[in-house]
Amino acid sequence: MNGRDLVRSVKSVGSVGAAQRLRTVRAAWRRWRADASGLPSRGAERARVPGVVQEAEPGPGGGVLRFSRSELRIHVAVNGAVFWGWDGADPEPSYALAGRCPEPDPRAVLEPDKDGGWRVVAERVTVAVSRHGLVEVRTPGGVTLRRDLPPRWWEPVDGGPARWMQRSEVAADARFFGLGGRAAGPRLRDGRYRLWNTDPGRAFSPADDPLYITMPVQMVVADAATHLVFHDTSWDGTVALREGEEGAGSGHDRAGSCDLRMEGGPLRCWVMVGTPARVLLMWASLTGAPARPPAWALGHHHARWGFGSEREVRRVVAGYREHGLPLDAVHLDIDHFDEHQVFTVDEERFPKLSGLADELRRDGIRLVSIVDPAVKAAPGNAVYDSGAALDAFVRDASGRVVEGVVWPGASVYPDFTYARVRKWWGGLYAERLAQGFSGFWHDMNEPVSFAAFGETTLPRSARHALEGRGGDHREAHNVYALCMARAAYEGMRELVPHERPFLFSRSGWAGMQRYGGTWSGDVATGWPGLRASLALVLGLGLCGVPYSGPDVGGFDGSPSPELFLRWFQLGAYLPLFRTHASLWAGRREPWEFGAEVLGHARVALAERRRLLPYFVTLAYLARRTGAPYVRPVWWGEPEDRALRDCGDAFLLGDAFLVAPVLDPGADRRALQLPRGRWYDTETGRAYEGPGQVLVEAPLARIPVLARAGAVVPVHGADGGLELEVWAPARGRTGVGLVVPDEGDGWEEPEIERYVTRWEGRRLVVEQEGEDGPREPVRPVRVRGTAEE
Ligand code: NOJ
Repeated sequence: MNGRDLVRSVKSVGSVGAAQRLRTVRAAWRRWRADASGLPSRGAERARVPGVVQEAEPGPGGGVLRFSRSELRIHVAVNGAVFWGWDGADPEPSYALAGRCPEPDPRAVLEPDKDGGWRVVAERVTVAVSRHGLVEVRTPGGVTLRRDLPPRWWEPVDGGPARWMQRSEVAADARFFGLGGRAAGPRLRDGRYRLWNTDPGRAFSPADDPLYITMPVQMVVADAATHLVFHDTSWDGTVALREGEEGAGSGHDRAGSCDLRMEGGPLRCWVMVGTPARVLLMWASLTGAPARPPAWALGHHHARWGFGSEREVRRVVAGYREHGLPLDAVHLDIDHFDEHQVFTVDEERFPKLSGLADELRRDGIRLVSIVDPAVKAAPGNAVYDSGAALDAFVRDASGRVVEGVVWPGASVYPDFTYARVRKWWGGLYAERLAQGFSGFWHDMNEPVSFAAFGETTLPRSARHALEGRGGDHREAHNVYALCMARAAYEGMRELVPHERPFLFSRSGWAGMQRYGGTWSGDVATGWPGLRASLALVLGLGLCGVPYSGPDVGGFDGSPSPELFLRWFQLGAYLPLFRTHASLWAGRREPWEFGAEVLGHARVALAERRRLLPYFVTLAYLARRTGAPYVRPVWWGEPEDRALRDCGDAFLLGDAFLVAPVLDPGADRRALQLPRGRWYDTETGRAYEGPGQVLVEAPLARIPVLARAGAVVPVHGADGGLELEVWAPARGRTGVGLVVPDEGDGWEEPEIERYVTRWEGRRLVVEQEGEDGPREPVRPVRVRGTAEE
């Protein structure tokens, strides 16, 4: 959102543009003044390193090493993850962990290593600590995956939080991924990445960094193994990455490096080693299983900032129906609020919202509401009054309630790091439910305050409860949206206990998947924005957030028909499939781009519907295993260097390889294949991987390949569930899991497991059961046998 947009928006609700502009100047000024008095300058600083190890105290799963100027606590948890914390930092309290820290693994013990160092040997990893505090993570075979040099702290002489720096080295062949949602990803090339959730203030392109979700979570993929490292610190920081270089033949290798600098907070981290799948399983067991969206949320959503009235919503919904386009959800943006105030409805333009919701629901379409955290600072406004009565709003160091500027004008911010504020906020969703909304879209929760200069968020000195520990916005900023999501999720669990909540949030932090997903924010309309859309979904998936997707068509401007279609075709294979755009952008309904685009969009929508049972299965598997629906092509073969560098295609679960068209004018594209046989799902043509192939990509479709041996649950022509079986290569077998849709409640579905194999010239498909294999009860459709 830029200043021009802001002024236009203010005009759009009839406020005075100049007054709002003045407010943003005042807000910036107030922020600056609050920090000047609330955060005294750091003054002189003293540098510190751990010094030399003095003694070791074994404990459960590891122990404590005492250095002359620090202490290192290290333990291996039962889930296989390794924790270490300097200066005695414990794993708790932590906003990332789902509940308590896992128990230590009693089999892992601290033992002396060579040259006065110590080590902890666990089943899948060895951690060696030198006498000066260098920490090495090694595979059981002894290959070093990561070397953390002794850290360095800078402490204000007069007291206050220490800044710190941790330099790490990784293998020369290693590639970095993650750090939250990075538009330039998925592979994170050399550069500095800031850890501070940020609304870029305008539609972003790949060069914009940071964005709305940053997390100190890196997935590092190297020949020897994959590891995930998480620095559990929510403060502002930067990560400087430099990929290594392998000495070609005679030269020396140069290690990759990662310099993490934090402005404060504990120096503690978790490391997980194994395959990508194993690493994400451990991550999910540590930070929480991803919330499983209801099946309708896996369909097609249409959003718009500026529907403006019930009539316009009906018009768009009717357009979908008339053009034969399936639609599952409609999202209402801030323009349906009364003067942009959250938890209200403009009754002039939306006089019978709950009636509209009922009508849509009868047609199988759900309503989703935007929810912004900022509350209009106006006594008499019910949300403001109830929050004020509870002392719910963030205050500055002098005790004054912090006032920012957002859509409703002067606004205040609930302190979601306070349990009783979360409880109050969660209860407010009752109003939304009464209006007929089925799901929630959290926005502007970095949190944003428009400002004429400086940062567009709260003062760093603003005070937060931090669960009773007390602290300021430097620590609370990055977890603000995470705590807001928790408030909503827990509120909905109480309000509608029998239904799985549907929630997605623009900002968040490690662990946000427990409450829901996200979307890519205001991506700029253009081919680079299309590419960034995929990078974000892939990168977030590798940080444990499997449900996300872009604004199809881009947030601003008007995409060309070709760009819109290519975006739509990509979106049809991403977990959140949503068209959305700004108030000032061109239209995004598929019929606005001409008959050809409409026809192809209809095919993409129909295919998404057909694949719904597969998406339901993937959502369930994500919850059980942490594996994202959308996976990098190297997921199963991280040692394949060519795959590791490929960011323009993805695996959708185990079964499909999707190759979106990301460039204008293309009617074919190169595709790097993982191992095995792959069938073009349209033509049936078989390709043998590994290697690069050229695939046809006419405007009508993007190439989607199916893995030989995949058993995929799909909707058949009669709407029932059937199995699409892609023939394994001769002599090979195949497998597939099916998780039937048991509704939007909490019932644990029965997982069906199918296997397929050749018996002579006959392809056999069987369902595995407790009493042995049996004929599947579901209809089976075999594909990919034409080549036999
Ligand atoms: C910013 C969000 O990113 C966008 O999706 C939304 O339309 C606007 N805020 C208005 O609510």
